[in-house]
Amino acid sequence: MVKEELKLKEALIIEGGNKLKGVLEVSGAKNAALPNMAATLLTDEEVVIDNIPDLLDIETMKNLLNTIGVQINHIKDKAYSFKLNEVKSLKAPYELVSKMRASILVLGPMLAKFGYAEVSLPGGCSIGTRPVDLHLKALEKMGAEITIEHGYIKASAPKGLKGAHIFFDKITVTGTENIMMAATLAEGKTIIENAALEPEVVDLAVMLRKMGANIKGEGTHRIEIEGVKSLKGTYHSVIPDRIEAGTFAVLSALTGGNIVIKNYPSHYLEYVNEVLENIGIHIVKISENEVVVKRDDILKPVNIETREYPLFPTDLQAQFMTLLCFANGVSEITENIFENRFMHVPELNRLGADIDIKGKTAIIKPVKKFSGAHVKATDLRASAAMVIAGLVAEGETTIHSIYHLDRGYEHIDTKLKSIGAKIRREILENEDD
Ligand code: EPZ
Repeated sequence: MVKEELKLKEALIIEGGNKLKGVLEVSGAKNAALPNMAATLLTDEEVVIDNIPDLLDIETMKNLLNTIGVQINHIKDKAYSFKLNEVKSLKAPYELVSKMRASILVLGPMLAKFGYAEVSLPGGCSIGTRPVDLHLKALEKMGAEITIEHGYIKASAPKGLKGAHIFFDKITVTGTENIMMAATLAEGKTIIENAALEPEVVDLAVMLRKMGANIKGEGTHRIEIEGVKSLKGTYHSVIPDRIEAGTFAVLSALTGGNIVIKNYPSHYLEYVNEVLENIGIHIVKISENEVVVKRDDILKPVNIETREYPLFPTDLQAQFMTLLCFANGVSEITENIFENRFMHVPELNRLGADIDIKGKTAIIKPVKKFSGAHVKATDLRASAAMVIAGLVAEGETTIHSIYHLDRGYEHIDTKLKSIGAKIRREILENEDD
């Protein structure tokens, strides 16, 4: 059986109820590393990116860049060098793109650098249809000719891209990143209105500026990019992962609160920390880059609306839903970003949660405990919510198809084992694919 198929049969077995104690280190942000890696297509010089997390999605992006013609070498620890040698292919193939939607991030850089790109239309995923219409409309406004044929986006700009005034009807993180990268080598000025404010977008702008791009306004809803002739190599270290950090804070609060979290990026989690405070969970700084999580005995219910940054991130919605099952009253979580991001609800209910869904809102009633069961990991972030639930459930929980988990959380079972969790991986023979 090939490695891929084995991956699909992997499950995590967790014996819940242990108090966890020790240190958890937050890795580099997946959603910053992915655009940063795509940006290496914009120069012929060597780019070194450090603090890259060891994740399946990162492997997929490396394979994709390799396919195009970027030579990637492991320097040490989390640092890799990227150098575009001869272009081998201008096609991002289905078998890679279907594994990771973020592959769409090579479209902008390839168009800007090579004047042509073929990228398989990213399929939807479990949390929604995930269209890329806003990316394509913006690139067309910059002069690209785009057709969709046999499931592939075929984009060409033989005379190069032209700067344009882009208005995004919706705030789109990768849409903002794609256009920012494409605009660095376009002729003239590009203005992006209603740009995303996420820290990962800002991190990309910082790296592009180090490569010689002329960018201003990142972190605001209006970003201006003056195209330049070419970009040079640079060294860049990826920012810490605010979603992994928030996941660790919830996990610590529910498992005895004796965990030191290293590299907790509080400045990216101000709103999340406020919500935690309202629940009765306190992030206490103990050194320059370490926090501990303290909690009140009684956790209070809260109502949460997921919104774009700097408000509550949709990527922490499932983890907070698990947490609020143990508050002393009814909470509500409304998912405003994706149309189908409640697949973890029936899985949590199998563990003993009492959650109803009314349209875009989940109503979470308090329960005393979870009891272990077989559950499924549905999307990347919901998988983490299931791990947290398994750690607090009485008895054994088996989380099936943990492929999603490895896409976004670096060696999570190793990290958790190191602080006392009883957790192991197993290949379930009779698992259906
Ligand atoms: C990014 O996805 C993240 N992925 C997601 O994290 C995150 O959940 C999401 O932003 C929201 O914060 C990466 O950065 C690689 P969007 P992205 O474009 O860019 C609609 C994770 O777990 N939309 O900001 O794909 C879209 O359907 C992942 O790491 C269009 O309609 O999200 C959604 O409803 C999950 N047309 C909304 O906008 C478009 O062309 C926001 O999507 C683009 C988006």
